[in-house]
Amino acid sequence: RSSDLAQRFSHTGACPGRPSFGIAFDIDGVILRGRSPIGGAQRAIRRLYSEDGTLKIPFLFLTNGGGVPEHRRALELSQLLGVNISPTQVVLGHSPYRELVNHFEDDLIVAVGKGEPAVVMSDYGFRKVLSIDEYASYFEDIDPLAPFKTWKVGQTENYMSAKVHPSSDVYSERVKGVFVVSDPVDWGRDLQVLCDILSTDGLPGTEKGDQPPLYFAADDLEYQAAFPSERLGMGAFRIALESIFNQISDHPLKYTSYGKPNPFVFKNAAKILEKLVMSMYPDSQILKEVNERQFSAIYMVGDNPKVDINGASKAGHPWSSVLTRTGVFRGKDNDPQFPADAVCLISEYIAPL
Ligand code: G3P
Ligand code: MG
Repeated sequence: RSSDLAQRFSHTGACPGRPSFGIAFDIDGVILRGRSPIGGAQRAIRRLYSEDGTLKIPFLFLTNGGGVPEHRRALELSQLLGVNISPTQVVLGHSPYRELVNHFEDDLIVAVGKGEPAVVMSDYGFRKVLSIDEYASYFEDIDPLAPFKTWKVGQTENYMSAKVHPSSDVYSERVKGVFVVSDPVDWGRDLQVLCDILSTDGLPGTEKGDQPPLYFAADDLEYQAAFPSERLGMGAFRIALESIFNQISDHPLKYTSYGKPNPFVFKNAAKILEKLVMSMYPDSQILKEVNERQFSAIYMVGDNPKVDINGASKAGHPWSSVLTRTGVFRGKDNDPQFPADAVCLISEYIAPL
């Protein structure tokens, strides 16, 4: 299949020099395992740039991961891969949360997950944000297992409290929304505190009440990290929370999940790629004016059939899918349930460019 891809990769659009295709790369299991670049990933990404370092082929990273603002992830990826990646080329699981700011205005929200979830949400414009580490720290005895834990929590984001929220308000102010930004770290404590918030209309330790809105940045059951076999992801945490909540509450848990394979994520990524190619080739504005199609193909390169390949198939034209054998998928041929348009190692698909 790599020669087919070579052919498809070689065509250009009506505007001379302007590529008629774009690429969306998954990160975990395709570009990185943990913090280490996989196989030919560095070389593959570098081939999308000219000798002088300018971008030649429009591409972005489309990951269900996150935990730091897009500009920070762009910097990390630039350093790891040795190219200049702009923040607009980084679409994280939680990137759509930006669009929800107006629904929360001055409401108190709690942000959950590894990294700096409260910083992410503040960066999107949410004005009153506490990380779950910090929120839980105000409620004495909320986690009866805390005395047995050997680690300290909430240190990286403590500066947020003074700036964003006076600690005393948390005892009377209801949490109006919970955002799971990235993979939760302390599952036991987080399950307890989230059940408290979600079953009491946002005020732990008080009577049962309505459930505040709950959002998940993604719903990956498993993903590929540095360990040889898959690790439990945000979807696994969601299942745990949902099962427990549904046992202790009269109403089933209500939630909204973002991330791949949601077709909305792919539509948004296509729009970003179009903007990117317009900035690379400003003359192609003419094409837009005559309403000509921007890309004849956008390739989703992913390792997870259920998430990446399923998402690209559901999104339809111009999306095509490339499944790599570098992460969750290890099959010999194609995935039987969510077959990709091409299956290969990352070093194979980029070689013909
Ligand atoms: O936590 C990250 C994981 O759920 C998936 O990341 O890059 O494979 O979409 P990615
Ligand atoms: Mg992946």
